[in-house]
Amino acid sequence: IVRGFSSSAVRNVVIKNVTIIGGGQMGAGIAQVAASTGHSVTLVDTSGDILKKSIKMIEGSLKRVTKKKFSDKPEAGEEFIKKVVQKVSTSTDAESAVQGSDLVVEAIVENLKIKQDLFSRLDKLAPPHTIFASNTSSLSICDIASSTNRQDRFGGLHFFNPVAMMKLVEVIGTPATSQDTLDSLLDFSKVLGKTPVSCKDTSGFIVNRLLVPCMMEAVRLYERGDASKEDIDIGMKLGAGYPMGPFELADYVGLDIVKAVIEAFKTKDPNNPLFDSSDLLNKLVAEGKLGIKTGEGFYKYK
Ligand code: NAI
Repeated sequence: IVRGFSSSAVRNVVIKNVTIIGGGQMGAGIAQVAASTGHSVTLVDTSGDILKKSIKMIEGSLKRVTKKKFSDKPEAGEEFIKKVVQKVSTSTDAESAVQGSDLVVEAIVENLKIKQDLFSRLDKLAPPHTIFASNTSSLSICDIASSTNRQDRFGGLHFFNPVAMMKLVEVIGTPATSQDTLDSLLDFSKVLGKTPVSCKDTSGFIVNRLLVPCMMEAVRLYERGDASKEDIDIGMKLGAGYPMGPFELADYVGLDIVKAVIEAFKTKDPNNPLFDSSDLLNKLVAEGKLGIKTGEGFYKYK
């Protein structure tokens, strides 16, 4: 292991081997898309059972993709799925998984301390050229990167759920991220077939910074009794061209997530009234009504 490698010697890295830490919804999706576009992927999680589920998720999602893509040739579809899954190896040992890696994408729990601990351990073992990226939705990339000695090779790579379907990736640079690192992350996103946009390391980046306050404003409008949930949703769909209304979207995302994100924004910018909490949202979360995943949120689901 080479230590103290001069970062200026690290040129625009072409990414072939990708290690993804966290095989949940997002990590499995990122692994699928990276493997589908020819990368060698190592997917890491805390247990073999979880990783089995991750591979099942990837196979299920690939089946949906190939059903459309290979509708006239189902055997070619099967062959494609097999090839992609072969590109994904799994591991419960993050430290050894990063050793041949050009890029590490972290998609573990949304907790600063846990992410910092992970990256600080990996920093000691990953090769000098390896770029680190976090898929965090609400934490500061700078805060996460501060646990490493490769802040020039650290950025945000923020995917959207479901990863296989959503075209956007937000590429986030901190003041310490080098231009070469940003270029590598932008190129990687394009190779995945996504459209990257760039944003500074600010709360919520572009999309969540606009979407989450919009959901909170919708809740406040409803709490004041100015309009019904249903009418607010219809209004934003038919009047603003949103594919889902703000209450439908909040239920889809999960009300616990919406609450956590707005609280994270508030911590960074306590005086911004757009980031105020909502009694109704807090009550629903306390009652375990978290949206579609629990069968009830703002709406009830069968
Ligand atoms: P998830 O809960 O589905 O998956 C997280 C996975 O990480 C779990 O399988 C867990 O076992 C694993 N994990 C936890 N700690 C670990 C560790 N120390 N080492 C290895 N694996 C570990 O969560 P999800 O939804 O996939 O989110 C992951 C990250 O992506 C979070 O930072 C979240 O903010 C971000 N994100 C989530 C989006 C979403 O819509 N769910 C969208 C964009 C970003």
